[in-house]
Amino acid sequence: MLQKQRLILEKASISVAASNDEVHFGVGKLGRLSLESYSELRAGRYDIDKIGAYSYMGGGNTIMRNISSVGRFCSIASNIIAGQVEHPTNEISSHYLFQGFWGRLKHVQDFYDNTPAWKKSRALFDKKYGDENQKIEIGNDVWIGEGVFIRRGVKIGDGAVVGARSVVVKDVKPYEIVGGVPAKHIRYRFSPSQVARLQKIEWWQYGLKLIEGVDFTNVDVALSQMEDKLESGDIKPEKFDTAVIEPTGEVIIHSAAE
Ligand SMILES: CC(C)(COP(=O)(O)OP(=O)(O)OC[C@H]1O[C@@H](n2cnc3c(N)ncnc32)[C@H](O)[C@@H]1OP(=O)(O)O)[C@@H](O)C(=O)NCCC(=O)NCCS
Repeated sequence: MLQKQRLILEKASISVAASNDEVHFGVGKLGRLSLESYSELRAGRYDIDKIGAYSYMGGGNTIMRNISSVGRFCSIASNIIAGQVEHPTNEISSHYLFQGFWGRLKHVQDFYDNTPAWKKSRALFDKKYGDENQKIEIGNDVWIGEGVFIRRGVKIGDGAVVGARSVVVKDVKPYEIVGGVPAKHIRYRFSPSQVARLQKIEWWQYGLKLIEGVDFTNVDVALSQMEDKLESGDIKPEKFDTAVIEPTGEVIIHSAAE
C-alpha cells in the first residue's frame, strides 16, 4: 500500500498494523475494497469486496481473495489462505496451461492453435469460477484461528468459529464451531433457541450501542437485556464511515451521514 492510502484510511479510523510494503490490495487484479471504520488490516494480500467495522485480519503469509464480504466484529488470525484458484480435476490434466493461461511461449501458442479444446476448457472454467461466482462470505462475529485454509465459495455463518489449521471446504453454520482437515462439526456455541434469538437481534448491526451496558458474559442475560433495549425502540442500526479503495488505488471516504 502507499503512504497516501494509509493516511486517508487513518482519517476514517481504519488502522493498518503493518508496514506499507506488507499490505497489498488486490490479488492478481485490483478490485474495489470497501472498509468500515474501526476495522484493522495487518500484513497480507486482500481481494475482498467489503470488510465490516471492528473486524481485523492478516499477519504472516495471509492471502484472502475472492471474498465478497467479511462482517463486523470478526477476529481473523494470521496465515489465512482463502479463495485460492481451483483447477479442473476431471480433464486429462489439472495444469492451467490447458485453459489458455500459458500463452507467453511460441511453442505453447502453436499448441493452442492446433488444440482448440483449450477454449472449451476455459469456458467451463470461467463458468464455474468466474469472478462473481464462488466468492467466500464471512458473517459477523466470526473467529477464524491461525493458519486456516478456506476454499472458494464457502459461506461461514454469523458467530461461527473455525479451529486453528483447519481446511474449510463446506459451509459453516451460524454459531457452529468446526475444526480439522477437512473441517468438521465440533459443537454449537449456544443452544438452538439462543442461536435463533441472536440471529434475530443481529447485535452487530448496532455497532457497540446495543451491547453497551449489557452483561455479555452470560448469553441468556445479554439476550434479554438486548431484547428489552430494542423494544424500547430508541436504538437504530449504526452506519459507519466507509473508505473505498478503488481499482485505481484512489481511496475515497464515504461519510455515514451520506
Ligand atoms: C476450535 C477451538 C476454538 C476449540 O476450543 P474449545 O471449545 O476449547 O475446544 P476443546 O479444546 O474443548 O475441544 C473440543 C474438540 O475439538 C477438537 N479441536 C479443538 N481444536 C481443534 C482444531 N483446531 N482442529 C481440529 N479439532 C479441534 C478437540 O480435539 C476436541 O475434540 P474431542 O471432543 O473429539 O476430544 C480451539 O481449539 C482453537 O482452534 N482455537 C484457535 C486459536 C487460534 O488460532 N488463535 C489465533 C489468534 S486469533
